[in-house]
Amino acid sequence: MLNIGVFASGNGSNFRAIHRAISDGRLDAAIRLVLSNNSQAGALAYAREQELPAVHFSTKTVPDETRYAGAMLELCAARGVEFIALAGYMKLLPTEMVRAYRRRILNIHPALLPRFGGPGMYGMRVHEAVIAAGVPESGATVHVVDEAYDHGAIVLQKSIPVLPGETPESLAARVLEIEHEIYPEALSLFAAGRIRFDGDTIIIT
Ligand code: GRF
Repeated sequence: MLNIGVFASGNGSNFRAIHRAISDGRLDAAIRLVLSNNSQAGALAYAREQELPAVHFSTKTVPDETRYAGAMLELCAARGVEFIALAGYMKLLPTEMVRAYRRRILNIHPALLPRFGGPGMYGMRVHEAVIAAGVPESGATVHVVDEAYDHGAIVLQKSIPVLPGETPESLAARVLEIEHEIYPEALSLFAAGRIRFDGDTIIIT
């Protein structure tokens, strides 16, 4: 079983999809911590409703910069977090976290990486860029988190066609549905021990 920490800054629909997959028995995991840098995040409200451990953690709650990374690590360790799912987490993780949880942090991105990713590519900007580029397909990507934005090894990707007359909003909504499918699926591959690393490449067994 995977002991997960979910980090989310916003609405938290991916977090809810992960939680649903656990409740339905599709994902053998337990949510040990829901962390948000945003005290108003829908993700935190939902976590509290579900009686999951929810923590607001930010430079407001830990104003001493030198303690920030250590405090995050301690919190995760204290809650028994062994694996982290970034689900719309808008703040860069401290390098210490990436090192401590190397190959055990996933992120979801609303496009087919390696295109349409990197610094500044988030939210509606991603879908605007996809439409402006005139590509026939978009989709979602679950990848391992390393030190660079949207860069680590790809675990799962699913594509959908960009439809005629598509707007960034309509594309975002359809991509989000795909995200809710592939994020729990990717986590369940780790939970089942089906992921091997060959250098930076992932092999699904
Ligand atoms: C998703 O589109 C995800 O790909 C991106 O941030 C958004 C989060 O949405 N990283 P939600 O908070 O899970 O609804």
